[in-house]
Amino acid sequence: MTVSEREYYDPATTNYWLPIDEIEQDRLDEIHFALKDLYDGNVLTKTHCLLRKGMKILDVGCGPATWLLDMAMSFQKCEFTGVDLSKDMFPNIKPNNVELVIADVLQGLPFEDGTFDFVHMRLLCRAFKKDEWETVFRELLRVTKPGGYIESLESDIRGETKLSKIFIDLSEQHDQNPRIAIHIGEILTKLGANIIQTDERSVNLGNNDILAAKFLSMIKHSIESLIPFIRPYLDLKEGDDPSSAIQELLDELKASEQKSVFIAYLAQKPE
Ligand SMILES: C[S@@+](CC[C@H](N)C(=O)[O-])C[C@H]1O[C@@H](n2cnc3c(N)ncnc32)[C@H](O)[C@@H]1O
Repeated sequence: MTVSEREYYDPATTNYWLPIDEIEQDRLDEIHFALKDLYDGNVLTKTHCLLRKGMKILDVGCGPATWLLDMAMSFQKCEFTGVDLSKDMFPNIKPNNVELVIADVLQGLPFEDGTFDFVHMRLLCRAFKKDEWETVFRELLRVTKPGGYIESLESDIRGETKLSKIFIDLSEQHDQNPRIAIHIGEILTKLGANIIQTDERSVNLGNNDILAAKFLSMIKHSIESLIPFIRPYLDLKEGDDPSSAIQELLDELKASEQKSVFIAYLAQKPE
C-alpha cells in the first residue's frame, strides 16, 4: 500500500513496518556496506573460517539480496538461496549460484529438514513480534544440517535521545522488542544450539570519521523511510517538510555521542 508516496506492506498481512520500494533497496545497500566496514567483512571471523566450497547457504529475509550477491561473488563454489516475504525487493539480475524464493519464515520455510550448511539472518527486528523469535530460530535450526551453523545480526536500540525513544515507542506499538539483540544468544541456547561467537560492535555517532558519517547517513535514510509513522512525534502535519526536524534528531545523536549498536551471534546446531 502507498503512504506518502512510499510503498509498505498491508499491515493486515505482516507486522513488518519498513517500506518495500526502490528507495528502501538503496537504504539496505547502504546499510550492507556500513555493516561490512563495522564487522570487517560479511560474516563473523569464525564463520569465515568455516565456509567451504560446495556449501549450501540460506539468507532469511534477504530483501534486495545485497549480502547474498556480495557473498556469492566471494564464494563462487557455494550455492546461495535467499527468501523474502515478497519479490518486490529482489534484484533483477543475479549470478547462477543464487536462487531467490518467496516465503514467510513465520509460516515455515519451503525446505526439507537439514538442507543448509549455513543459515544467515540479519536486520529482521522490525519484522517479528516479541514472542515470534523462538519460532523463527526453531525454523532456522530445522533447515540447518546437524553440525551446521546459524549467524544472526541485529541492532540494539539504546540511549535516551529523542530518536531512540521514538524507535522504542514504535517497536512497542508493534509488539516488538527493540532490544531483542541482547536475547538472541539465550534463545538459540534454549533451542539447543551452541553459541560459538558473540560480537557486539558499535559506532560512536559523535565521532568525526567516515564510519560515523556512514551510519548517520543510514540513520537519516531510516528516519525518512518512517516519516508517516514518525510525523506525530515531530509535530509535523501531512505535507510539512520534515528536513529541519530530521536534522535536529541527527544533531542530538552527534552532540550526545549516541552509539549505534549491533550484536552478531554464530551458533552451531548439534550433530
Ligand atoms: C530490513 S530488511 C533486511 C534485508 C536484508 N536482511 C539485509 O540485511 O539487507 C528486512 C527484510 O525482511 C523481510 N521480511 C520481513 N518479514 C519476513 C518474514 N516473515 N519472512 C521472510 N522475510 C521477511 C522484509 O520483506 C525485508 O525485505
